[in-house]
Amino acid sequence: MPKRAVITGVGHFVPEDVLTNADFEKMVDTTDEWIQTRTGIRERRILKNGATSDLAAGAIKDLLKKKNMSAEEIDLIIVATVTPDMFFPATACVIQEKIGAKNAWGFDLSAACSGFIFALVTGAQFVQTGAYKKVIVVGADKMTAITDYTDRANCILFGDAGAALLLEPSNNEEYGILDHILHCDGSGGPYLNMLGGGSLNPPTHETVDKKMHYIYQDGKAVFRVAVVGMADVSYEVMKKNNLTGNDVDWLVPHQANKRIIDATAHRMELDSSKVMLNIDRYGNTTAATIPLCLSEYFQSGQLKKGQTLILSAFGAGYTWGAVLVKWAFDNNKK
Ligand code: UT7
Repeated sequence: MPKRAVITGVGHFVPEDVLTNADFEKMVDTTDEWIQTRTGIRERRILKNGATSDLAAGAIKDLLKKKNMSAEEIDLIIVATVTPDMFFPATACVIQEKIGAKNAWGFDLSAACSGFIFALVTGAQFVQTGAYKKVIVVGADKMTAITDYTDRANCILFGDAGAALLLEPSNNEEYGILDHILHCDGSGGPYLNMLGGGSLNPPTHETVDKKMHYIYQDGKAVFRVAVVGMADVSYEVMKKNNLTGNDVDWLVPHQANKRIIDATAHRMELDSSKVMLNIDRYGNTTAATIPLCLSEYFQSGQLKKGQTLILSAFGAGYTWGAVLVKWAFDNNKK
């Protein structure tokens, strides 16, 4: 059996269209200053035509191109999303068809903003058991599909994106997915959800009138728990592995709010130069934030072989967790 699952490829896709804070000033009662100081966001991308599977397929195609790899080599596709194209078939099946991954099976995984790290840990198990050799883990969300553009507290937060990683087996224990701590607390359900459309509240005129097919968030309540939860779990995974802030090269945080990210870095005693950030350009893209950071920082040559990373997230459920990763390869095409 292989000793580790290692990340051996990255790719991402962001739509071209941009929604800036200035655009929101014309849509709702807000200001660029409020949005930037409270969230750290300047702009986000929106997918005008297409669905989550297009964001994910775009990301996987980017990865395959960079790896010079054929889609037919993929064994398994795990899709983290809360905005599947439809309830069924799974978005994984739609993506499999779109990219021509004829030999792959796949499934969707729902854990909101923690979706990517839950999917990454799941994918790593399939690799470490020796069951599969090439596993794609993709985080993709078309958040604009479920955003109420009259709700000023929430509409300014979200954007659309997809990003993917490739996991492969390795016998070198030093690199790859080294450890994780994951949590759920269902008592957080009432504070961040989308109540309509499922078996609890099937779609009716009434559910539409009551705006139950949009994201609902009590931002203040979620903030209070997220700011502690994400900081604590990141610190715990570090301590569990006898690491200090000096040993960590990168914090790769879910990009929901710059203030939550700063609090996490502070708890880990990490300098801000060691924190991956792109919230200013993309906002909260739910399952895509973490792999999008990895893909961009890798592409720019800042993420290098041998570096120690802590990936961490907090989201609806509540769900949260952190993953310890040793990066296994360099970008030679900078
Ligand atoms: O990704 C999954 C997990 N989600 C999160 O981690 C999000 C957690 N929550 C947050 O990031 C923050 O709570 C928000 C960014 C959503 C809101 O920031 P806040 O500092 O918690 O603001 P608030 O909700 O306490 O609102 C402060 C004030 C309120 O006015 P009053 O009651 O003080 O008069 C709001 O009505 O700001 C007002 N406000 C706005 N003002 C201008 C709310 N939204 C806006 C807006 N523009 N867009």
